[in-house]
Amino acid sequence: MVEPGAGRWHNPNTVGRSEETEPMRDKSRDIGRQLLQIPGPTNVPERVLRAIARPTIDHRSPEFADLTRRILDGLKLIFKTSGAICIFPSSGTGAWEAALVNALAPGERVVMFETGYFAKLWREMAGRLGLQVDFIESTWGNGVDAGRIEALLADDRDKQIKAVCVVHNETSTGVASDVASVRRAIDGARHPALLMVDTVSSLASFDFRHDDWGIDVTVSCSQKGLMLPPGIGFNAVSAKALAAAKTTPNAPSYWSWEAALAALGGGGFPYTPPTNLLFGLAEAIAMIEDEGLENTFRRHARLGRATRAAVAAWGFDTVCRQHDCHSDSLTAVVMPEGVDADAFRQRVRARFNVALGNGLGKLAGRVFRIGHLGDINEPMLIGALSAIEMSLAGDGAAREGRGVTAAIEALADETSSVPAGSK
Ligand SMILES: Cc1ncc(COP(=O)(O)O)c(C=O)c1O
Repeated sequence: MVEPGAGRWHNPNTVGRSEETEPMRDKSRDIGRQLLQIPGPTNVPERVLRAIARPTIDHRSPEFADLTRRILDGLKLIFKTSGAICIFPSSGTGAWEAALVNALAPGERVVMFETGYFAKLWREMAGRLGLQVDFIESTWGNGVDAGRIEALLADDRDKQIKAVCVVHNETSTGVASDVASVRRAIDGARHPALLMVDTVSSLASFDFRHDDWGIDVTVSCSQKGLMLPPGIGFNAVSAKALAAAKTTPNAPSYWSWEAALAALGGGGFPYTPPTNLLFGLAEAIAMIEDEGLENTFRRHARLGRATRAAVAAWGFDTVCRQHDCHSDSLTAVVMPEGVDADAFRQRVRARFNVALGNGLGKLAGRVFRIGHLGDINEPMLIGALSAIEMSLAGDGAAREGRGVTAAIEALADETSSVPAGSK
């Protein structure tokens, strides 16, 4: 099995497995919409698609500056910060890199925690950028253990560690960590390290608070909870992190916070921005405001609970091992011994045009992931769960075939307490 890091670079689509050919799709199944049930990129709502389809405008015009300012105001409510937010034309990986190259210098020490595949990828990036990583190893399926971070920081008497980097929602395992506890651990050890948090698959899906939780750099991107196509990365940055960035010897160029903030302050970008994606972002923010962010969180929590009810009724385990750490944005499902999760996923797609996420890294072939984040409602989830259940029938994998019923019951229990359209 090839793990991330076995070579210098790897292909995330095949990592852990040999290259394989997917079965040919039955074209007659193209009828109807594909249910995009991967944990990102997520469904892009019609409203956002229509906004993106507007003619591109001059990115140095007052109209564009107004758009940028509206977006920044909206993002502050979503990141829950009154501080600086940088917007980059990038994927989440770019936003990871921006965080590291602005605040840290090669040779400096950082602590990272192994929550799964994405924590490992971030560690590899840090290593390639010349940082010295204290990687706290842990079993995939568990969240961040703040006590272990506190112990490491308490041992660092010379304060050599410059940052602690954690993934809020580990998309490979469906585990959400308590990042507020990491801030308490840093403070408990009386340590000045910055706290950097990857919220790629949690932002706008479940609670995250940049300011209240004392985060120094929040990393995120467009294609998950924010319901946009891939292409925009974000760093929300504290005053302390901005001050650290001023002292790094090799100031970054494309990723420079200073350049980004100087330009964004005037409603512009230091280079050509992804104008049409920004139209889409303004619309996505308006949609989240219409629903009410806390209602968005409640919807994700409901969908998460319903999905877990189905998985339990099928008789499968989730990768998540800690009851209080289940992610509201995705569920990673462990297939029974001897059942190939990828072959199963491909059958679901070929038969029902439902796309499920693959197992990543050492979970490849053993796990499939159900995304339940972004522009998704109860009937969409039930549709996807039905496709899974119908594919399980006769597969030999299912021990029980009543997952959909269990999910509907879980939803029925809860929807009555949530008035439609309430904020
Ligand atoms: C938690 C997490 N971090 C980082 C990334 C990398 O983001 P991207 O693929 O947009 O570069 C992903 C991608 O899914 C992710 O889920």
